[in-house]
Amino acid sequence: MPSRVRDHLRFLGRLIADPSNVGAIAPSGAALARAMAAEAEPSLCGAVLELGPGTGAITAALILRGFAPWRITAIEYDAHFATALQARFPTINVVQGDAFALAAAGERFAAIVSSLPLLNFPLARRKALIDSALSRLLPGAPYIQFSYGFAPPVAAPEGACVKLAARVWRNLPPARVWVYRRR
Ligand SMILES: C[S@@+](CC[C@H](N)C(=O)[O-])C[C@H]1O[C@@H](n2cnc3c(N)ncnc32)[C@H](O)[C@@H]1O
Repeated sequence: MPSRVRDHLRFLGRLIADPSNVGAIAPSGAALARAMAAEAEPSLCGAVLELGPGTGAITAALILRGFAPWRITAIEYDAHFATALQARFPTINVVQGDAFALAAAGERFAAIVSSLPLLNFPLARRKALIDSALSRLLPGAPYIQFSYGFAPPVAAPEGACVKLAARVWRNLPPARVWVYRRR
């Protein structure tokens, strides 16, 4: 079975099992994955943190963009996705857990790239996630998030800014890529 079809079927299965956590009707398409990866800079030293990688569409784009797999740590809540992701990318670091538990202390990243369905979570949790993610970035590094909404999923916190980096029409559904940075 072609891997794209297998990914779609796996995604559909998890969507039926846990719709609010999966939060999309299909895996991220190639155009969206490329647009997300384009906002991360491989020449910046340090690791990349991916939140909610699901089937790994964006993980693959990060590797194509030039990030060595060993630089990628991916936090995935769903055990089925996490197991399949580790099998697909044996040399990335997959952590099966809750991205919202990201503490402020710890390693600083060259980019944080998120597919989390933020709009499915209460505003206070979204804000807390963006705050702790921004505090885990190296100076100048981006927090990259896609959403299906017209506005950023959270306004930029004080001391940070958010920009619309891309509109991706060739995705199901069309998506927007937002980039947050500390000033
Ligand atoms: C929109 S889907 C991912 C799409 C992904 N880019 C793909 O192509 O498959 C959202 C993902 O976030 C994961 N997720 C949801 N809540 C999470 C959490 N609290 N921590 C980590 N992952 C979470 C879901 O299990 C799902 O894999």
